[in-house]
Parts: sequence; C-alpha cells; structure tokens
Amino acid sequence: MADKTVCIVGLGIGKLYVAACKYYNWDVITVDQNKALNADYLNVDDIPKAVHIDLAVICTPNYTHERVARQLGSRYVTNIVVEKPGFQHAGAWLGFQQQYPKSRLWMVKNNQFRTLFADLQGKEIEKIQLFWLNKNRIPGAGSWFTDKYKSYSGVSRDLMPHLISVAQRALGQCIATDDFTAQCYQQYDMSQLQNDSTYGNYDANGIYDVDDCAYFKSKTNNVDIECFASWKLDIDVDIVEWRFFIKGGANLTYGVGLCPESAYETMLHEYMYADEATYQQHQKYDVEIHAIIDHFVESEQVPLFAKLSI
Ligand SMILES: NC(=O)c1ccc[n+]([C@@H]2O[C@H](COP(=O)([O-])OP(=O)(O)OC[C@H]3O[C@@H](n4cnc5c(N)ncnc54)[C@H](O)[C@@H]3O)[C@@H](O)[C@H]2O)c1
Repeated sequence: MADKTVCIVGLGIGKLYVAACKYYNWDVITVDQNKALNADYLNVDDIPKAVHIDLAVICTPNYTHERVARQLGSRYVTNIVVEKPGFQHAGAWLGFQQQYPKSRLWMVKNNQFRTLFADLQGKEIEKIQLFWLNKNRIPGAGSWFTDKYKSYSGVSRDLMPHLISVAQRALGQCIATDDFTAQCYQQYDMSQLQNDSTYGNYDANGIYDVDDCAYFKSKTNNVDIECFASWKLDIDVDIVEWRFFIKGGANLTYGVGLCPESAYETMLHEYMYADEATYQQHQKYDVEIHAIIDHFVESEQVPLFAKLSI
C-alpha cells in the first residue's frame, strides 16, 4: 500500500502531476469539475472526509486557487501546493496561513528544481539575465488566461513568477525588494490575434485585456537581476535563455525548453518531506513572488523593451 495520498485538483497541467506522483507510487485522487475528464471526483468536497490527504496540488484557473485551497484547508490537508501565481495578493497568501495553521501552503516553483543550478554551486554570480520571450505562445487568447478578472493579469503573472523563482534559486536567497522596477504592457488586443498560438485554446468571443510583455529589474547583494517575459513578440524564434555572469569569466548560458517532468517530481518530494526550516525558506520565496507581482505596473512599450540587447 502507498504510504502517501495525493490529490490533484484540475486536470489540465494537473495531468503532469498525476504522472509525477505515480513515480513515487503515491496514491492519487483526481478532481475536475469537467465530467468529460473522468476524474475520481467533480469537487473537492465530494471526497469522503475519512480520506486523509498528505499533499494536494491546485491546478485550476487562477481565480479559483484560493477558493479550492480553503476547501482543502478545511479538511486539514497537510500540504497544499498552489500553481503559480498563487493567490490574488500577498495578503491573501499570508492570511490563509493564519486561518489554516494545520496546513502548509506552497507555491509551485518547478523551475527551481531544474538540475542546472548544480553548476552554479560555489560560483560568485555578478549578474543574472533571464529571458522568456515567445514568438507566439499566448496561452489561449480569449481563454480565462487573458481575462484580467479571471487571471488577475497576463504574462507578469504567468511567466514572471517562474523567472523570479529562478533568480531566487540562483542567489540562494530572496531578491532585495527595497528598490526594483516591475513594468508590463499590453501589446495586442483580441482583434489582432488569431488561432495560431502554439499553446492553449483560442476563443474569438473571449476577452483579452491583460499585459503580454513584462520586465523586472533588481539588485541584490551587488548582483544585477533582469527578467524579460513575453507571450508574443516580433522575433524569428523563441528566446528562452537564462544567463548567469560569473566573476572572473566562464559565464553560464542555458537555452531552456519546457520544464522536465523530473523537476516536478523533485519539487513534490521536497514539499512532501520538507523540515520546518525548508518550509520557512519557501514561504519567504512565495510571499516575495506574490509581493513583487503585486507591484507590476503598466508602462509604455518603448522604455521597456528598448532594454533588449540580445
Ligand atoms: N507550473 C507551470 O509551468 C504551469 C504550466 C501551465 C499552467 N500552470 C498553472 O496551472 C493552472 C491551471 O492551468 P491549465 O493550463 O491547466 O488550465 P486549464 O484551464 O487547461 O485547466 C484547468 C482545469 O481545472 C478544472 N477546474 C476549474 N475549476 C475547478 C474547480 N473548482 N474544481 C475542480 N476542477 C476545476 C477545469 O475543468 C480544467 O480541466 C493555472 O494557475 C496556471 O497558471 C502552471
């Protein structure tokens, strides 16, 4: 018999977590309100109360994250893992922990668990430059992702949490947030878009009122950090490249593809078995990601991407 029970809520990206849990032979309960997906349950509240859940992953649209987390917190789930970008505000994240002290709350930071970080061990980083620039990968123009009411905002909440978490992991600490720039802008509107993105489901009748380009800059312990993210840009090929400038040369540059399943496996294992100190460190990262995202402001296009010199 498996020694742990995991619950996956939402079977879009959630399917990937089902596979990751199978790797550890954990028992998996699935929940999705879409009957066509044949999950074990349609709603978290349908799971019998006698079933203890050691870890649950919330993979539902952003506007439902907190509501589903409350359902899980009410039944004392030990670890509640929430897909990025977490909750709507940092305050909601902190408030949840006070209200549900029996549950540990984690944000998905799958990119922190890529193996490339082993190369940075013992190296003195001077500058971090992280690019996630897609030629055409809007996650469903007209879907919930591009409706501000449902996603809270666009690429600044979709891709920036990943990049910020990568900078945290490379630094081994939080990013200094006393002085930073966090800008975003909306480049496209629905009338300019068609069903040609390499990802997501297009809905011509849907809403597109979110930012699709974002820029973040900070300096932490004399390390310059710059992050660039876009769903759609006028470029020949995707530029998803992470650069770490090392003191004395030998800079490290990684062209990164989709996050491998092994990173999700490592993350779930860490969250499942983490000691209190590890949990507290992740909490700092998670609150910081929320706090930074809360501060993204709409700006003019030109000053933002004029900074691109790649
Ligand atoms: N970490 C990553 O790299 C990564 C990648 C993709 C998506 N995500 C995140 O995962 C989340 C889901 O994204 P997606 O692309 O899978 O979305 P999606 O719309 O494809 O799938 C969401 C699923 O949740 C179900 N659902 C909605 N509300 C529900 C509820 N209350 N109870 C049960 N099921 C419910 C829907 O029926 C649907 O099947 C988002 O927050 C997104 O930001 C993260």
